[in-house]
Amino acid sequence: MTEPAAKGHVAVRDAAVRFQHKGRAVQALSPISMDLAPASFTAVIGPSGCGKSTLLNAIAGFTPLTGGSIAVDGTAVAGPSPRVGVMFQQYALFPWFTAIGNVEFALKRFDMPKAERREVAMQALAEVGLAQKSGNYPGQLSGGMRQRVALARTLAARPDVLLMDEPFGALDAQTRIAMQELLLGIWESRRTTVLFITHDIEEALVLSDRVLVMSAAPGRFVDEITIHSQRPRSVEQIDDDFIANRARMLRLLRHDNPGSPPSH
Ligand SMILES: Nc1ncnc2c1ncn2[C@@H]1O[C@H](COP(=O)(O)OP(=O)(O)OP(=O)(O)O)[C@@H](O)[C@H]1O
Ligand SMILES: [Mg+2]
Repeated sequence: MTEPAAKGHVAVRDAAVRFQHKGRAVQALSPISMDLAPASFTAVIGPSGCGKSTLLNAIAGFTPLTGGSIAVDGTAVAGPSPRVGVMFQQYALFPWFTAIGNVEFALKRFDMPKAERREVAMQALAEVGLAQKSGNYPGQLSGGMRQRVALARTLAARPDVLLMDEPFGALDAQTRIAMQELLLGIWESRRTTVLFITHDIEEALVLSDRVLVMSAAPGRFVDEITIHSQRPRSVEQIDDDFIANRARMLRLLRHDNPGSPPSH
């Protein structure tokens, strides 16, 4: 018997997004192509305004393309789908729902009995280490805990693809490292395809299999770096590859930022 094909393949082909803003056309995403292999972890890094969030929102089905195509497992993206989970920097939790209420709300679109919904939500909270806080409201949780609820909410729907837009950008360094470790553990156990946008070179190098570097707007992929460093990785235990890749990314990103000192 043949194994079923792994899920979570994303194919982006000449995808472009143009917005009309105050009577002017803004090319938010220039035609761009890429593939995300099932169970891979890809980071995207690039200067502010180059189109990273626009790309993510297009894959998520929130922003329609004005050119090209995006498909998940062979099906064209035509709007948000439970197969694709999204997490942003802002917690975006409902303050009037408890932690478990927030996770359950995300499951409302599934035809699922109430008791099962509660159980699935509880499992997701346990997966992010927050089972004990299920009855707390967002206002009674720390920033890191709120972001863990947001992650649980995304995971509860069991997406094949997880899109993350600077999800840990607002967290302090310690909490951020804890969240990175949590995410990697979940990725390794679930084998979800991850697309992770970050401004942080070290975060990209610690987390991903591959880093795609975008140029300033109109953004294009200017480099693709495969990360061979052994896992588990940490910023405290860097190897020669890490140092070389960090230098390569710094050079590319500085090149796009006229305010920075010249690179060598
Ligand atoms: N809804 C919109 N209407 C008009 N222009 C938009 C809209 N959304 C984004 N843009 C423009 O598209 C370009 C790309 O924006 P985007 O948010 O994708 O950048 P980004 O790479 O995510 O930047 P950052 O790193 O600051 O988050 C910017 O010039 C932005 O002003
Ligand atoms: Mg952005």
